[in-house]
Amino acid sequence: MKERRDALRRLSYGVYVISARRGEEINAMTMRMVSQVSQRPPRVALAIAKVRYTHQFILESEAFAVNVLAKGQEMIGGHFGLRTGRDMEKFAGVEYEKGITGAPILTECSAFLECRLVASHDMGNCTLFIGEVVHAGTHDKPPLIYRESDYFG
Ligand SMILES: Cc1cc2nc3c(=O)[nH]c(=O)nc-3n(C[C@H](O)[C@H](O)[C@H](O)COP(=O)(O)O)c2cc1C
Repeated sequence: MKERRDALRRLSYGVYVISARRGEEINAMTMRMVSQVSQRPPRVALAIAKVRYTHQFILESEAFAVNVLAKGQEMIGGHFGLRTGRDMEKFAGVEYEKGITGAPILTECSAFLECRLVASHDMGNCTLFIGEVVHAGTHDKPPLIYRESDYFG
């Protein structure tokens, strides 16, 4: 059990803020379990625990944005990843723009990918959401690499 957990911890990830809109409400959460799963069409997959508030936003709006955090943005990863939007307005004081899907796009990040939901699969405690990229952009900043001790030290 411990070996399995430790081995899984050695998979490598970036750090992403997944954002979505539901009516007038916006929310976002930090993620590591994000991957590209197709080039043509361009598709990405997210493994989101069903208990996350953002999970409901994606199911209802059928859209989300992947904000790729930049090197040095560990604080933003902690801000969106260590508290739930059920109890607070996470975007208060954070700079963002409204994307074409309505999802908020962080102004300061390495890149963003706006996606329309094309499939969702029950994976146990998580849902695997598959999104097709409909709008994307980059900034001249290298991406942040996930290190567990930056958030859960
Ligand atoms: C660095 C980091 C990575 C995370 N990766 C994931 C992930 O891949 N999947 C997931 O369901 N939760 C992940 N989380 C946890 C959520 O971000 C966290 O529970 C968040 O508070 C959920 O917010 P919400 O309830 O407003 O949606 C991660 C948290 C951190 C700090």
